[in-house]
Formats: sequence, structure tokens, C-alpha cells
Amino acid sequence: MLDTAFQPLQLGPLTLPNRFIKAGANENMSKQGKPTRAMRMHHEALIKGGVAMTTMAYVAVEKDGRTLPDQVWVHDEAMDDLKAVTDAVHAAGGKIAAQITHGGSFVTGVFIPRRLESSVSGFNPAGLLRGNMFRRAMNERDMDRMVGLFVNAAERCFEAGFDAVEIHMGHGYLLNQFLSPLDNQRKDQYGGNAENRARFPARVLRAVKEAVGDRMAVIAKINVADGRSKGAQLEDGIVTAKILEEAGADMLVLSGGRNVESGWFTFGSNMNLDAMLRVIGKWSLSGMAIASTQASVPKIDFKPLYFWEYSTKIREAVSIPLAYLGGVTSAENVSQCMEAGFEAVQLARALLREPDLVNRWREEGGESLCDNCNSCVAYIYHPAGTWCIHQPPNKLEDNQILASAG
Ligand SMILES: Cc1cc2nc3c(=O)[nH]c(=O)nc-3n(C[C@H](O)[C@H](O)[C@H](O)COP(=O)(O)O)c2cc1C
Repeated sequence: MLDTAFQPLQLGPLTLPNRFIKAGANENMSKQGKPTRAMRMHHEALIKGGVAMTTMAYVAVEKDGRTLPDQVWVHDEAMDDLKAVTDAVHAAGGKIAAQITHGGSFVTGVFIPRRLESSVSGFNPAGLLRGNMFRRAMNERDMDRMVGLFVNAAERCFEAGFDAVEIHMGHGYLLNQFLSPLDNQRKDQYGGNAENRARFPARVLRAVKEAVGDRMAVIAKINVADGRSKGAQLEDGIVTAKILEEAGADMLVLSGGRNVESGWFTFGSNMNLDAMLRVIGKWSLSGMAIASTQASVPKIDFKPLYFWEYSTKIREAVSIPLAYLGGVTSAENVSQCMEAGFEAVQLARALLREPDLVNRWREEGGESLCDNCNSCVAYIYHPAGTWCIHQPPNKLEDNQILASAG
């Protein structure tokens, strides 16, 4: 079945030359909201390495939707640099998606001088480090504004040359704050059962699809489960998937876990605390906070395809295209995904380890060289941008020059 993975895939108006997609993985290759040359080179290398489509991670739909200070956000001054990245990807023969998102109350790296928008009001544990102590429940007017921001972001991404948008509804960001009962305790039509919790995210998707769906693929990344007993379970993930199918998604990307409560579930393995403290500083406020939270995290042993039991259940429940994500580490894993009826695979860590992995698998199959050390996750915070520690380090200067500057 590996051959199937090298067949074209139609996602709405978009044709992908094969079924390998680089998953959104925060590059930290941007300055003041604009992509750098490092970002351009990174995505170009992935396309040259064989993926059909790469994903620019975390493109915030407004400035206050960032979680980190330099993160890309959609605004006029970023357009030339976004275009420089998409042009490079197209010249290399591939496609590129923008992961459009809003942090809501999950804002860890910037101070926002007002209560952060979320599904609920009250104390905001995720904002502790930067003084974003409180959040407030969005009302209808806030929701209308937010829908407009997602639509505007998708339209601007189209202008900048993106082929797809991936609306982030997982991992604890704003739309996930509606989907997950860990946040959403609303008593109105946006809270309570899984249908209600999916109502606002579905509205965002429907509006984006209506605005750009004839020109771009509209994808959503969701949690199959949150990985916590009080969080969303597989049954909720199934309901979400069905509702988003109905709302017109061209594909769903199946992930899981929440940045604060269950990051280990997202990665099917524990954080590399040594690497994290090396990059952000053992005695920094963030370093001390992270170290203290790690003590209570369960010990998880990585296994390939770690969302299999969840994602195959979602496969049975919907008929729209699905991308399998989470621990794809061998050509055999890819075949297994194709055989089970997933239309695509997404990979993050294996492609950071080997940007040309897809070409290698096409030639000879085999295993990824990634050892799941999770250092790359820590290197999100490195000034030179994220890289795999088994690769030569990024050049700092490439991350100081904007993507359009040559
Ligand atoms: C360095 C790094 C940064 C990540 N940043 C993001 C992100 O910005 N948005 C997102 O949706 N997922 C992010 N992820 C999660 C990946 O998309 C993916 O869900 C996870 O790594 C599991 O896939 P894998 O086993 O192929 O690595 C990140 C992963 C890594 C390794």
C-alpha cells in the first residue's frame, strides 16, 4: 500500500501530488510577526525532500492571537514575506498550508493588557507566567468578530499564495477552548454536550469554507481526545469530526492532547526536560514552572502510530478525507495508514530529523532516523529557530533576515 501514498490526492479545489504532509510544527522562524529567510529555506527543503504539502505553523489571525512575541500574524506588513515563502515552495514543486489560529486564553509569551477571550470567564492558569491572569467568556459579538478574523486570515493567506488553510481546533488554543470540557463550562448553546461545544468552531469553519473554499483547501486539526479524564474523550472527538464534516471541511487532521494539561498525549511521549531547560534556562521563570509541573506527569513510552485506536474509530465514523498524525515512523506505518483508509499522513518530528525522508521512503522504504528525543520541541524557543539536534544547527543570521530579503 506504500504506492497509494504516492498517488495524488484531491482536497476540495487542491490537488496534492502525493499524500505526505508536513505537520504544523512551530518553527520560531519569524520576527515581529513576519517569516524569516530560515522559514523560507525550511519549507523549501521539505518540499525538495518529497512532501506534497508543508504547513506553516501557527499563523495567528490577529496580533492578540499570538502565543509568542515574534509569531507570524496576518497583517499587511507580513504579506511580502509570506509570499516569499509560498513562492519558494511553489518553485520547488509543492504546496503549502497556513495553520490559522488564535490562542484565546492560551498566551504564554506575551502580556495582553485585558482579559483574554475564551469560552469561559475566570482565572487563567495558562496566563500565569506573563500576567494574563484572567479570561472572559466570549459573547455573540465577540464570536462574530472572531469568525471575521478567521475569514480575513484565510483570504489574506490566499492572496499570499497559500494553497490551503488548516484551522487549528486542537491542543488548547481558542477553538479547542470551546471543544474541550476542560475549559468550556458554558450553560448556553455553546456549552454542555459535544454538539454544543462544537457549534462555534463549526461556525468558523463554515464561514472560512464559504469565503475561500472554491480556491483553497479548508482543513481542520482536531483532538481525537484530550488525554485527561475530565477532558474531551473519543466520543466527543467523533461528534466533532461529524459536525465538521457536515460543515464542509475538506480534510481533518487527527491529533490529541492539550499544551498545558497533557502535552505528553500530543507527542505520545514525555517532554525532554533537559533540552527544555538548556534552551529556556534552568533558572528562568518558565524553566522553573515547567520543571515543577513535570513532576506530576505520567511516564509515557513512545510507540509508533500512538493515536491508532482513536483515529481508526474516527475513520469509521466519517467519510471525508482524514490525515493520520502521531508517531508515523516508518514506510510500513504509512502503508498501514493507507490500508486503514486514511487519505494522507502528516509528520512533524520525523521530517525535522530528515527533511528528505519522503524521497528516501519512495526509493527504499525503511524507518525514520528520529529517536523521539523531543529536543526539537524545546528548540521552538531557540533564537535560530527549531531544529533537530542530530542535524547541524540553524544559522542564526538566517533567522534575522526576513523571507523576502533574499
Ligand atoms: C517542534 C514541534 C513544534 C510543534 N508545534 C506545533 C504547532 O505549532 N501547531 C500544531 O498544531 N502542532 C504542533 N506540533 C505538534 C505536531 O504537529 C504533531 O502533532 C506532533 O509532533 C505529533 O506528530 P509526529 O509524531 O509526527 O511528530 C509541534 C511538534 C513539534 C515536534
